[in-house]
Amino acid sequence: MRILVCGGAGYIGSHTCVALLERGHDVVIGDNFSNSSPKVLARLQRITGVPVACERVDLRNRLALIRLLLRHRFDAVIHFAALKAVGDSCKRPLEYFQNNISGTINLLQAMQAANIHRLVFSSSATVYGDPEAVPVQEGARLQVTNPYGRTKLVVEQLIGDLCHSQPSFHVANLRYFNPVGAHPSGLIGEDPAGIPNNLMPYICRVAAGRSRRLSIFGGDYPTPDGTGVRDYIHVTDLAQAHVDALEYLADNGRSLTVNLGTGRGVSVLELVRAFEDASGRKVPYEIVERRAGDVAQVWADPSLARRLLGWRAQLDVDAMCRDAWRWQFMNPDGYSGRVAGTGRRPARGFAPTNGATSPLRI
Ligand SMILES: NC(=O)c1ccc[n+]([C@@H]2O[C@H](COP(=O)([O-])OP(=O)(O)OC[C@H]3O[C@@H](n4cnc5c(N)ncnc54)[C@H](O)[C@@H]3O)[C@@H](O)[C@H]2O)c1
Repeated sequence: MRILVCGGAGYIGSHTCVALLERGHDVVIGDNFSNSSPKVLARLQRITGVPVACERVDLRNRLALIRLLLRHRFDAVIHFAALKAVGDSCKRPLEYFQNNISGTINLLQAMQAANIHRLVFSSSATVYGDPEAVPVQEGARLQVTNPYGRTKLVVEQLIGDLCHSQPSFHVANLRYFNPVGAHPSGLIGEDPAGIPNNLMPYICRVAAGRSRRLSIFGGDYPTPDGTGVRDYIHVTDLAQAHVDALEYLADNGRSLTVNLGTGRGVSVLELVRAFEDASGRKVPYEIVERRAGDVAQVWADPSLARRLLGWRAQLDVDAMCRDAWRWQFMNPDGYSGRVAGTGRRPARGFAPTNGATSPLRI
C-alpha cells in the first residue's frame, strides 16, 4: 500500500515508517517539523536502505493537505500529527484544539476530497482518565482530565460520527499506553525539546548526567511501592501494531478500537531499577509531591488487539531500557548532534560504564 504518514518524522511515526518500509509498503511522510527534525529522514534511509519521501505540510492548512492527497494516490493515512504535552495543553488549550482537532478535521476533509477511506489514528490511554478498574478494557468509561486528553476523545468521537455517516470509511483507533525505548540501531528515538515531560527521557537525561536527579511525583500511592504504575510498551512493538492495523482495515473493511500495551503494570521505581541495570548508570532520584492530574495505576487489557490483529507486545522492560539508553548514549544531543561512534564527532561525556559499550559497535 501507499501510505501517507502524518507526523511521521516524530517519535512513534519514525519507528512506524521503519516497520512499514520493512513490510514493503510505500511511505510518504507529511510533517511540519514543529516537534521533530528533518534529520530523521537520513536516519530512516540508513536503517531501511530506502529513501523516504517527505513533504513539509501543516495540518492546519487544509488546501495544502488537499493538494498533497490529490497529488499522490494513497491507499491509507496514518495520523500521528498532534501536540502531546499534557501540562502545556493546560496552558495553551486553544492551540491544542486548533492543532489536534481542527487539524484532524482538515485531514478528514482532504481524505474525502481524495476519496481515501482508511485511517489509523493515534489515540491514547488518556481517554480513560482515572479508570475504575485495571486492566482497562476498551469498553471502560471514557473521561478526560486535561485539554490534551480532550483533543483525543473529541477526535475519536468525530471520527466515529464520520464512520456512521460514510460506511465506506474505516478507522483503526489505537489507544497507546506508555511508549518508550528506541530502534535497536540507536539511530532513531525520542528527542524531546527542553526538559522532558515523560519519565523515560527524563531518566535517560539523569543517567547521562544532564540533570542532577529524577523527581518522582508521589511515593504514597496505593501501589506496591507507593509510586505510580503504568503500562510501558516498546516503541517498535507499537510500530508493528500500526502495520497490522492497516492490513486489518484493508483485509476486513471494518473499523476497530484497541488498546496497545503489554498488559503489565510497572512502577516508577521498578523502571528506574531496570534502567540502572541496563545502563550501568546510577539514576539518583527524590520523591516529591504528587502531580495534579496523575493517577495511581493504569495498565491495559491488550487481549482485543491480540484477537483482532494477532498482535502482542514482544519486548520486555529490560529491552525498553537498553534501547532507550543506547539511543541516548549514541545521540547525546538528539538529532541536533552527530551519531556517536561514527568517528565524525565523539560523544563528549559519554564514557561507557559496565555493559554500555555495545552501542558504539553498531
Ligand atoms: N508519546 C506518547 O507517550 C504518546 C502516548 C499516547 C498517544 N500519543 C500520540 O501519538 C502521536 C505521536 O506521538 P509522538 O510521541 O510520536 O509525538 P511527536 O511529537 O514525536 O510526533 C508528532 C509529529 O507530528 C508533527 N506535527 C504536529 N502537529 C502537526 C501539524 N499541525 N502538521 C503537521 N505535522 C504536525 C510533529 O512535528 C511531530 O513530527 C500523537 O498523536 C500523540 O498524541 C503519544
